[in-house]
Amino acid sequence: MTHASILMVCLGNICRSPLAEGAFRAAAKRHRIDITVDSCGTAAYHIANAPDPRSIAVAEQHSVDISALQARQLCEADFTEFTHIFAMDHANLGNIQAVEPEGSTAEIALLMDCVSGRKGAAIADPYYGGDDGFVDTWKDVSEAAEAFMEKLNATSA
Ligand code: 4NP
Repeated sequence: MTHASILMVCLGNICRSPLAEGAFRAAAKRHRIDITVDSCGTAAYHIANAPDPRSIAVAEQHSVDISALQARQLCEADFTEFTHIFAMDHANLGNIQAVEPEGSTAEIALLMDCVSGRKGAAIADPYYGGDDGFVDTWKDVSEAAEAFMEKLNATSA
């Protein structure tokens, strides 16, 4: 497989996709897999903001530092720069597909499609809820990260 480059996409790029970015970076390091990982939001509300403090805290509990990340918005170049664009939920997926340009080469899917038995599942938006939601988000993105690395290892073996 060519060098995988993965873009995680949620709405604001402050809660779920920064956690997905952190979990994938950590899993890639653990598996000694060289991949590129980035994240962005479909909306512009939080451009240049750091991740939500609750996302930073749950990542920190797993020794992953996402505090220096800065939110950005999905752009046209992303569709050719990345091999995979992973949406956190169905609304994100629809928003990505709505702006997909001609000549787009990225494979676009739900992140949880990586996990067998969870195809079609959404990662719930934890923004308006309590800390538990962020713990659930971390579990989901970590599960997806493990599954993705195992698949990459299997295809390169
Ligand atoms: P995210 O969560 O898409 O996982 O980053 C949200 C962040 C901000 C808002 C909604 C969801 N917001 O409405 O500002």
